[in-house]
Amino acid sequence: MDDAALEKALLLAVSVGDVTSDEFAEQSGVDHKKVIGLMKSLEASALVRSSAVDRSALALTPESETYIVDGSPEAQAFHAVPADGCSLAEFKQAVSKTVAEVGFKQAMQSKWLGMVKGGEPRVERKVDAINEDTCQTQLKLIQEGKAGDIDPKDLESLIKKRKLVKQDTWKVYVISKGAEFSLERKKQPTDLTREMLQDGTWRDETFKAYNLVPGAGAMPSGGHVHPLLKVRQQFRETFLQLGFAEMPTNNFVESGFWNFDTLIQPQMHPARDAHDTFFMKTPAVANRAPEDYVERVKTMHEVGGHGSIGHQYAWKRTEADKNILRTHTTAVSARCLHKLAKDGFKPAKYFSIDRVFRNEAVDRTHLAEFHQVEGVICDKNLTLGDLIGVLHQFFARLGMTQLRFKPAFNPYTEPSMEIFAYHPMLKKWVEVGNSGMFRPEMMLPMGMPPDVNVIAWGLSLERPTMIMYGIDNIRDLFGSKMQLGSVKNNPFCRLGLIEQTETVKATQ
Ligand code: PHE
Repeated sequence: MDDAALEKALLLAVSVGDVTSDEFAEQSGVDHKKVIGLMKSLEASALVRSSAVDRSALALTPESETYIVDGSPEAQAFHAVPADGCSLAEFKQAVSKTVAEVGFKQAMQSKWLGMVKGGEPRVERKVDAINEDTCQTQLKLIQEGKAGDIDPKDLESLIKKRKLVKQDTWKVYVISKGAEFSLERKKQPTDLTREMLQDGTWRDETFKAYNLVPGAGAMPSGGHVHPLLKVRQQFRETFLQLGFAEMPTNNFVESGFWNFDTLIQPQMHPARDAHDTFFMKTPAVANRAPEDYVERVKTMHEVGGHGSIGHQYAWKRTEADKNILRTHTTAVSARCLHKLAKDGFKPAKYFSIDRVFRNEAVDRTHLAEFHQVEGVICDKNLTLGDLIGVLHQFFARLGMTQLRFKPAFNPYTEPSMEIFAYHPMLKKWVEVGNSGMFRPEMMLPMGMPPDVNVIAWGLSLERPTMIMYGIDNIRDLFGSKMQLGSVKNNPFCRLGLIEQTETVKATQ
């Protein structure tokens, strides 16, 4: 009988009445252990219940079987002694070791034989004949399955003292219907699948219960904040302290228009190549953009205006409509500044901290995705001096009070500066960010008044985090290779805890 058939047969039998496991095993011609295994698995699903019953059986040893034929050792001892007795030595010679020792002792106790001491010890009969060989009779009864007829005391002595009878004990089970009894076991799914959710079948499923052993395994510890999030929080607080408002960064997918064109980055610029930027396959394009603004951006690229000669090439809408993963958060800044100009210019301070993507070779300091921190200030008549002052304020709050600037190039800022800070932890000058004043070619098509300037700067979130937490491989900070332990154990973020006096010092 195969497993499925055995299960069916057992459930059927239980449906009629209680079943005893050993009887069922015998009827089905399978091993008792197999029935117990099946019963336990059915019990786990509450199809059946069981209660254990102790069973025992008596069995003769090979030695005691010979006594049924030849008589008990004590009877054999009695018969070995002649009617007029013999010397102990002669007796011992005539019988086996067991008869000479056990048999002789038992026959003495039964007062069938006696010893005459003095001179040479002799053995004599005390009775003419044995009435009954009780031991032999009892062994026969056991053989016939009539152990119940034996005085329990005698039986105990046969088992425990004389070890002529073995007692085997085992458990059998009375199996009855369980709370969830049914003639067929429904397979309980262990997982909630997407298909079940889609076709609604999850409603009718009974899911397999967890059988977690209470107390087994390690207690999961509570959640821990990832170092990047800790540092992000400190950056966020620094910006908020300085009166900046957070920009909405909830679109990883941008059109080329917002990521590049609005920033006056020419369409043949190498950064717009698939080597540097991730292009979306579906949907590959999105052609929703404010048309009047698109027109002004196009003109600025092709022929310029307001004193600029533009980039002097044929601007293509198809290039602007391509969907990409944003390569910098400056795309977010462009959206916000355009909205600010459209809604009617007001002085504004914005910041953003979120993920950006670049199609770069991954190495110990580069990943294809990382986070950027960006600050933007938009007001009338801002100067490079304002930018430098703000950067001092900002970085001093992060513990970097000594800054140096180096002229740089960005397609959308002029002038542009790389920012270097003397790092008190590393005790050397390190590059900490990039900055500049957004070009009029970017701001004017948005509709910003001509006397409005925008100063902005950006940095990565990963770099300060790695320095702060002493991580030298970015893959140990971000992505699937990061150790959960390092999330759990990393210390408190000390950025932004600088004393106000130091901030003041830095800006004096
Ligand atoms: N967008 C620049 C970058 O990706 C950073 C930056 C922001 C530079 C704002 C100037 C002004 O590195």
